[in-house]
Amino acid sequence: MGRLFNHYVNSYKMNTPEWKEYLEIAGDLYNSPQLQRLSEVEHHFDINRLQHIRSVAYLSYVVSKKFGLDTVEAARGATLHDLVYYDWRENDWSHRPHGFRHPGFAVKNAYLLCGTITKKQKNIIKRHMWPLTPIPPRYPEGLVVTLMDKYCATIEIYYSKSEKFKKRLSKRVGNI
Ligand SMILES: [Fe+2]
Ligand SMILES: [Fe+2]
Repeated sequence: MGRLFNHYVNSYKMNTPEWKEYLEIAGDLYNSPQLQRLSEVEHHFDINRLQHIRSVAYLSYVVSKKFGLDTVEAARGATLHDLVYYDWRENDWSHRPHGFRHPGFAVKNAYLLCGTITKKQKNIIKRHMWPLTPIPPRYPEGLVVTLMDKYCATIEIYYSKSEKFKKRLSKRVGNI
């Protein structure tokens, strides 16, 4: 768990060899205006959607590499997993209930961004909210992404709610 947390910290530093490898695989997506504009959307309180996606994608890449899984599918699927542009707190029923519906919106936006995506990437995005949505991911890369999504969400909420933890993480990362 300590090692995973170190990787989480590195997702903010963006200076490791693994970060370079990640960018070689998914930099076209990560650096696209569609992704970069998500830095303006709140995701988990003090953490914006781009930060969340970056952490999930980086961790999914690192963990998939460790287990000999398909790092390209994991990194690209994870980078697209929350590609929605609205603030889910807005009182707008066109996107509610967010937890159930946003994977479908993200799939649509992924097609709009990429033209096409692989079957595996589509499944990674569509099933990432499991077990809230009842059908689990079909591929091990999808399981990695859904687990990393929960891990990052937990840290991000804790970071936002605990001044002590915020200081601890900021000390290691600098300004988040
Ligand atoms: Fe999500
Ligand atoms: Fe997510």
